[in-house]
Amino acid sequence: MNPDAIPSLRSPVGIFDSGLGGLTVLKEVMRLLPDEDTVYFGDSGRAPYGTKSHDTIVKFALQDMRFLLEHRVKAIVIACNTASAHAFDPIREEAGIPVLEVIGPGARAAAAATRTGRIGIIGTQATVDSGVYLRAVETLAPLGVVIHQQACPLFVGLAEEGWWENDIARRVAAEYLAPLKRAGIDTLVLGCTHYPLLKRVIQEAIGPEVRLIDSAAEVARAAKARLEQVGLLHGPRADADPVRHAYYTSDSAERFRQLGGAFLRHEVPEAHKVEIERF
Ligand code: DGL
Repeated sequence: MNPDAIPSLRSPVGIFDSGLGGLTVLKEVMRLLPDEDTVYFGDSGRAPYGTKSHDTIVKFALQDMRFLLEHRVKAIVIACNTASAHAFDPIREEAGIPVLEVIGPGARAAAAATRTGRIGIIGTQATVDSGVYLRAVETLAPLGVVIHQQACPLFVGLAEEGWWENDIARRVAAEYLAPLKRAGIDTLVLGCTHYPLLKRVIQEAIGPEVRLIDSAAEVARAAKARLEQVGLLHGPRADADPVRHAYYTSDSAERFRQLGGAFLRHEVPEAHKVEIERF
């Protein structure tokens, strides 16, 4: 094997999602792992994943993984609950490098946060239908936990559109979250990485007393621990060796650059368009 093809400590961390949602995870990775280069791929051209069948989600997720492997990443973060729920095993089998997913960390945080045992989980239809979150929280939470799940498919479109805090987003949130509010949950898992983009309207609709669980920070912590464990964590950098973040999308690069920059709150200098079907 060509030694250049073997990922090393200096290789980037690969992160993918169906679109912009995974940037919520990237942001935490940048914060907790400030010395790591990253390669981000957002499959906005084929989003949403959450309305697709299991086979399609697996096919898309494997293509996203292969694209990242071409960049010789040293680890992959599946910054997408839908892909984590449906494609974690096939990705882990094929990748040959550490792979992190978002559902376990979110479920652990929810089980630790609840006081009353009434937990809400919102996610895409495919995530809710998979039952993966439900089982993970039930396994981790103390006895007597009551879980209410709700699919919120329109949130993904709102997030991709950049409609993060307008009246339409507020009305959609109020409609989706009304049953969870009636159920008196004290903890709400944002089981889709797009949803933290709408955090403000979600908190408004569910009420200030409900604790929102966004697994991004937990996943970044898990990634750090895993890199440390396998001896691939990048140490502090010299000034002459700046960190690099590369952005790829399967849709308009300009649109990704603008919305991604607005979300990350720093400029995304350039994004590149990828023909993902090639992989
Ligand atoms: N952001 C993804 C998730 O966490 C997928 C949203 C979608 O494409 O439907 O589930």
